[in-house]
Amino acid sequence: MSDGTPHWSRTSRFRIPRAVYIPVTLHLVSSPIALQLPGVTTTTLLASAAALGLLAAACTRAATGAPDLASTPSSVSLRPPLTPSDTRMERFVDSVLAGLTLEEKLGQLTQNVLSAAVTGPQLPEASAADIRAGRIGSFLGTSGAEVTRNLQRVAMEQSRAKIPLLFAYDVIHGFRTIFPTPLAEAASWDPAAVERGARVAAAEGAANGLHWTFAPMVDIARDPRWGRIVEGSGEDPYLGSVMAAARVRGFQGADSTTGVAHKFRDTLTLIATAKHFVAYGAAEGGRDYNVADVPPRTLREIYLPPFHAAANAGAGSVMASFNELDGVPMHANRDLIDGVLRREWGWDGILVSDYTGVMELLNHGAAADSAEAARISIDAGVDVDMVSTFFLKKLPAEVGAGRVPIAVIDSAVRRVLRAKYERGLFQDPYRYSSVARERALTLAPAFVREARDMARRSIVLLKNEGGVLPLRKNLGAIAVIGPLADDSASALGAWAGAGRPQDVVTPLAGIRQAVGAGGRVLYARGAPADTADSSGFAEAVRVAREADAVVLVIGEREDMSGEAHSRASLDLPGVQSELARAVYAAARAAGKPMVVVLMNGRPLSVPWLADNVPAIVEAWHLGVQTGPALADVIFGDFNPGGKLPVSFPRTVGQVPTYYNHKNTGRPPVEGIRWNSKYIDVPWTPLWPFGHGLSYTTFAYGPPRISKTEIQPTDSLTVSVDVTNSGTLDGDEVVQVYVRDDAASVTRPVKMLKGFRRVTLRAGERRTLTFTLRPQDLAFYDIRMRHVVEPGTFTVWAAGSSVGGQPVRFRVVGATTELPDRGPLPLGWRP
Ligand code: NOJ
Repeated sequence: MSDGTPHWSRTSRFRIPRAVYIPVTLHLVSSPIALQLPGVTTTTLLASAAALGLLAAACTRAATGAPDLASTPSSVSLRPPLTPSDTRMERFVDSVLAGLTLEEKLGQLTQNVLSAAVTGPQLPEASAADIRAGRIGSFLGTSGAEVTRNLQRVAMEQSRAKIPLLFAYDVIHGFRTIFPTPLAEAASWDPAAVERGARVAAAEGAANGLHWTFAPMVDIARDPRWGRIVEGSGEDPYLGSVMAAARVRGFQGADSTTGVAHKFRDTLTLIATAKHFVAYGAAEGGRDYNVADVPPRTLREIYLPPFHAAANAGAGSVMASFNELDGVPMHANRDLIDGVLRREWGWDGILVSDYTGVMELLNHGAAADSAEAARISIDAGVDVDMVSTFFLKKLPAEVGAGRVPIAVIDSAVRRVLRAKYERGLFQDPYRYSSVARERALTLAPAFVREARDMARRSIVLLKNEGGVLPLRKNLGAIAVIGPLADDSASALGAWAGAGRPQDVVTPLAGIRQAVGAGGRVLYARGAPADTADSSGFAEAVRVAREADAVVLVIGEREDMSGEAHSRASLDLPGVQSELARAVYAAARAAGKPMVVVLMNGRPLSVPWLADNVPAIVEAWHLGVQTGPALADVIFGDFNPGGKLPVSFPRTVGQVPTYYNHKNTGRPPVEGIRWNSKYIDVPWTPLWPFGHGLSYTTFAYGPPRISKTEIQPTDSLTVSVDVTNSGTLDGDEVVQVYVRDDAASVTRPVKMLKGFRRVTLRAGERRTLTFTLRPQDLAFYDIRMRHVVEPGTFTVWAAGSSVGGQPVRFRVVGATTELPDRGPLPLGWRP
């Protein structure tokens, strides 16, 4: 939840009990995660995500001796079978709908906030009264097996309609076991790992009483000033689409045969929400909530694809965005919600408003009063009104006056009822509210291990001159310096769910653990992250001189990015640059190796560091296992293989900086005046999209294509030999870029169309093959037809968006229109 409450201030009463745990192995989609569940006596290997629910239920029963609620009658009056048969569900949903008054219907479309701070065994009377009266369909921001059970009980036992509630929460990068921020995870370029991370987050969230998460955030962001860049997957629509689909599959569980995410069934998954629809990341000036002015072609090719991928992957819900787009606020944007999302893409989930988005139509100047705001919003396709309560209060009169057809309300209510049915809540409204399961799964050791693995995969080695890294663990003394070195809240990053700083192993603690009792670690904070106070510099310099190597941890605190945390500068805040210079001077004078670790929620402009400090590690905000993951990389126990999911500008003045730009009529050439660049800084980024080093090196052969000439409806393959030419095993992300050399509308200089993260042993050579489909070559022409045009295309296969050897092929024949079925093949899986 946003809007003022620091997320870690929430308290949770639950801890994993010290008990005898017997190992159980859960297959989290593709790879097993060992879980310690109390009282379970066998090791179980399960291949399908659906089976996880059964296992969890079995574990819970074994742990508590509780009856199997799914098979034991309770006081619940509405009891359809759990079989996911659509016709049965529709019949059931219709029968429920038929029994509802208009107010109860609108109650189903109303979502209220109930923060953990005001919940507990004692429910706030206002909420209880609303539940009793059928004025609430779902809650946002509350969690906990006991709390949700109590609220559910009011709905089931004291309301007339007895419709179970849905509990929603912003489980963005973990519920309690906080993973790296989404931007950091995108830097892993490892969708299978990202899917596993979302699976863990869902399991933990669901065990804490939740049904619905407001994630993944799939907004493309080309402007790092925008604080919410931290919540997405960066600047590229293809990478963003892959990560969107992986996360939807992870949150909802994926069908192993169709590759499409489940919407329902098991108690270890959550309904996923692709947000914020759409172009929220294009906020002018990077200022949050600001206007987005995006041409239709850019909307189709850059901002919409990750939503299309999430919809195709089966996302149960989509959230409208706060921004207006070309004069139409998204909560009133019928063309895009009803038109594109529902009719064109055939998506049928719940469209939820973003917080007071319906009410904000007044501020936008798009509605004259609250009745009009409610009317145009539901008419545009918004189903659930979060917080504003305009639907509940204003739509009865609108329906009465014939301005809103009851059929529109009924369609929206059906979507909500289906979601409740699919979660199995009509069968057993308490099935997510098991205290035993909550205890067993919250911060489960297997989840924490997964968080550490995800964290080290997310780290990007930006620079390593002279092989400064990895450091030896048995150096005499290591100085760990900087405001973020021991800042546990910052390590969690923005939107850290129910995460708590005390769960975090900081960089300092991680390095201490790694060197062990025999190692010496000296620590100095040096300076605060954001003020002009330089009084700690002297101590930092002293420590740097005394040590044999220096690790300086600087960047942004967690509250310097995220919602409503845009910045006008991309520099290091406070006096951190000065601290870096002072420490660097000391280390250099004493001949000590120095490493800078950046922790940040957005690209930072750090040209001085890039020019001077020999080793720079991009560590983002990595979550509860920040320290161990960082130590794994710093000491070489894990060879970093992440790549940047977003360009790093040299200065904020270059923004927007993105690799898939147009060439212009005067492409930039340094040293020649009359072309598209700056006179005071180079036009190129500090580090480009896709950049990232390793402790080993990789050599690329020239890309080979299966055909040099194809028809517009043909696919072709691109193969490349990649050799680990160094002496250590390591990961490389092989990236395939395409350019349409000349077309009826101008095309980007490069577009990512495929990638794979591979592990190669020292000396190993592997041939990687990628398929380019007609969809990958298509674009929206001047009449907004989705076409492949004849002409030449250039392809690169490389370890970054810069460089690589080009190869060409030609599309022959006539311009051909193709349906736009989304950026990924249907049924895509990592
Ligand atoms: C506002 C944010 O924009 C959205 O991402 C979030 O899900 C809601 N608040 C609910 O907390």
